Amino acid sequence: MTRINLTVDGAKVADDVEPRMLLVQYLREKLGKTGTVVGCDTSNCGACTVHLDGTSVKSCNVLAVQADGSEVTTIEGLAATYDGGDLHPMQEAFRECHGLQCGYCTPGMIMQSVAFLKENPKPTEEEIRVGIEGNLCRCTGYHNIVRAVQLASGQGDHQSAGASTVGVPAEEATS
Ligand code: FES
Ligand code: FES
Repeated sequence: MTRINLTVDGAKVADDVEPRMLLVQYLREKLGKTGTVVGCDTSNCGACTVHLDGTSVKSCNVLAVQADGSEVTTIEGLAATYDGGDLHPMQEAFRECHGLQCGYCTPGMIMQSVAFLKENPKPTEEEIRVGIEGNLCRCTGYHNIVRAVQLASGQGDHQSAGASTVGVPAEEATS
C-alpha cells in the first residue's frame, strides 16, 4: 500500500492505496464519486475525464498514486469551481442545447470541454470538434455537443442548436 494525499472536489483526502489502483477506481470505489464513469478502461472513450491540477486527463489512464499531492476536480465538483450558480456554465450549455441523450459520455465530455475552452476560449466549430475528439459519444452525432461548447464560449445560441436535431447525425442535422 502507498499513502497518498490529494484534494478531490475541494476536500482534502488521505488514503492508503494499491500502487496499481487507477485514479478512476479510486474516485469511484474509495470516494464514491460515481459521476465519473468508465466506458472502456483503455483510454479510448474519454468518459472518465477529470481535471488533474486543471488539466483534463483520462482517469483510467492515471494511477491513483500519480495524483498524490494534486488537485482533482470531477464532474461532481465542477460547479463549485464557478461561483455563478448550481451548474457550471458548460453544464448549463449542455442542458440548453440538449447536448446529450443517454448521458453516459456527458461527464467526461463536459470536463474535456471546460479544459478545452480554457486553452481556446473562442474556438471555431472545427476546433471544437478537434478539441473533443478524444471523447466518444455513441448517441448524439456530436452536433448539439458542439453547439453547447459554442454557447459556453459565448458564441452561437441554443436556438440554433434546436431540440429537433438531437440524435440526428451531424451531416444530416447540418444539411
Ligand atoms: Fe477512460 Fe474510456 S474509461 S477513456
Ligand atoms: Fe449517450 Fe453520448 S449521450 S454516449
